[in-house]
Amino acid sequence: MDKEFRTMTAEEKKAFAASKNKEFINKAPEEVLAYFLTEFQGAAALSSSLSYEDQALTDMMVRIRKDSRIFTLDTGRQFPETYELIDRTNMQYGISIEVFFPDFHKVQEMVREHGINLFYDSVELRHLCCSVRKIEPLKRALQGVDVWISGLRRSQSVTRAGMQMVEYDEADDVIKLNPLILWSEEQVKRYVKENAVPYSRLHDKGFPSIGCQPCTRAVAPGDDIRSGRWWWEDPDHRECGLHVRD
Ligand code: ADX
Ligand code: SF4
Repeated sequence: MDKEFRTMTAEEKKAFAASKNKEFINKAPEEVLAYFLTEFQGAAALSSSLSYEDQALTDMMVRIRKDSRIFTLDTGRQFPETYELIDRTNMQYGISIEVFFPDFHKVQEMVREHGINLFYDSVELRHLCCSVRKIEPLKRALQGVDVWISGLRRSQSVTRAGMQMVEYDEADDVIKLNPLILWSEEQVKRYVKENAVPYSRLHDKGFPSIGCQPCTRAVAPGDDIRSGRWWWEDPDHRECGLHVRD
């Protein structure tokens, strides 16, 4: 499938993704993962932020194929709990999560020009930081990848309500696979609990959504799950650009 996929035009890739979406949208996440991990062996990879969702997907993927590819983008501004969880996850499953770092020249230049905590100064500078610390490393991580697996869920935010389980992402020329797209937060938590999946200690400290340390804060029980992310910005635009690009 992989070779065949690479020779398709953008229109054909879009049609292929739409037909797979129709086939799998109401199926269990494990089923759609098993299909893509088999058909796109070695060219399917999960981008993990070590959140509940990504840990559940890691568990499902490792059960299907021990050699599943999982990578994380270390922005250099993560929480200590996130680094600790990378180790704990690797140990529990006997895997090695690939870690991608930003280009240090670009980070140095940005910090020299705009300061170390530039993200608080304007939306533009916040986007610049996300682009240097996340988007550029993501582009490198996606080299050779045809299926980009992610833990997105529709109910996470208004910006994600229209997303599908299988989509063609033209900008990155990959199939975007969101196996948990229809799951609720409760379903994710139940999976994590029932399967003894290692999860971030931040989740028990009031952080339902985990990003970089300076841009994420705890929320009160019952509050919008993404309200602790870039909390000083307008809620309709709180995305780092990984999934929603201008
Ligand atoms: S974000 O775009 O606002 O940061 P969010 O934290 O909700 O995204 O995570 C959504 C999905 O984006 C995750 O399930 C994961 O696939 C991907 N993701 C987010 N942050 C990272 C990261 N640091 N490394 C790898 N993937 C990430
Ligand atoms: Fe920079 Fe904050 Fe974006 Fe992390 S979330 S890359 S610290 S602006």
